[in-house]
Amino acid sequence: MRIGVFCSGGDAPGMNPCLRAVVRSAVAAGHEVVGIRRGYQGLLDEDFYVNAAGEPVMGLRSVSNIAKLGGTILHSSRSEEFRTEAGRLKAVDVLGKHKIDALIPIGGDGTFHGAVALAQHWDGRIIGCPGTIDNDLMGTDYSIGFATAVATAVDALDKLRDTAESHERLFLVEVMGRHSGYIALYTALAGGAEVVALPETETNVPLIVQQLQVLKARGKQSIMVVVAEGDETGGAVVLNEDLKKAGCPFQTRVLTLGHLQRGGSPAPADRILGSRLGDFAVQAVLEGETGAMAGAVNGQLVLTPLTDTYAKHKPVPEELLDLLKTLAS
Ligand code: F6P
Repeated sequence: MRIGVFCSGGDAPGMNPCLRAVVRSAVAAGHEVVGIRRGYQGLLDEDFYVNAAGEPVMGLRSVSNIAKLGGTILHSSRSEEFRTEAGRLKAVDVLGKHKIDALIPIGGDGTFHGAVALAQHWDGRIIGCPGTIDNDLMGTDYSIGFATAVATAVDALDKLRDTAESHERLFLVEVMGRHSGYIALYTALAGGAEVVALPETETNVPLIVQQLQVLKARGKQSIMVVVAEGDETGGAVVLNEDLKKAGCPFQTRVLTLGHLQRGGSPAPADRILGSRLGDFAVQAVLEGETGAMAGAVNGQLVLTPLTDTYAKHKPVPEELLDLLKTLAS
């Protein structure tokens, strides 16, 4: 069997260990792997990883020592051309031309939307791996990259706390997560933030200011407000203005972490998750499964239909929201 693998959408730390597992598991089982560079766009452009012999094949050594590398050695992209029907039909031709029987896309909801659309024209097998820092896919407790992104954001929070404490200031720290508060909530909890603003909960500015006044009266010298980029207020810059207008009792500063969270060597948790899911995706393909995502739920490896991974919003754990409130008091 010839299995195509690629990374698509926003890169995530842990994509490389996942790719390594796909290659090593498939080759160990006697199959061939074609590495498609630059996601769906690379598929359309027939942009493949080539080995020393000039063949479009990823051998065992092609993935040596990549588990510790951030980003993705295959590169990633968001393809406008693939969003069109003509683009997808062209992709089917390319897959046929290179005799690719199955695909393992590593990416997030956009990647899986693309895979589902492709499956309407192509009868090869598709098993996705959840590679996104956002952790917004149903069918897996955590996505590959989430743990590293949170670790990066917590490191930033710890450093900001030092200067916030020295100057008795409030910092608003915006973290990624277009439609999801997962990174924000985990960062806030691990970093000991006093306030979190998420798209899943109402961000009530007068209430936050009231809470800040109480905290100031109790002797708090510094405040961390973690804001998800998808928060309904519009993000940290806007929320900062709103807080100031509503009488925030602290001097404020704003920091947007942005793409910093997507870089860096993957945390061990992401290396292990990426490895497990990459191997599991290969086994699923070989067993004839298709149209599903490999995930880990309560420690067990499971397959979830691709359409179910993005059909519903993945709720943030209520219990963690409550815990944050208790600990921030
Ligand atoms: O989906 C991953 C993600 O990092 C989101 O958190 C963020 O909103 C988006 O990608 C940014 O995309 P881009 O890299 O295209 O600016």
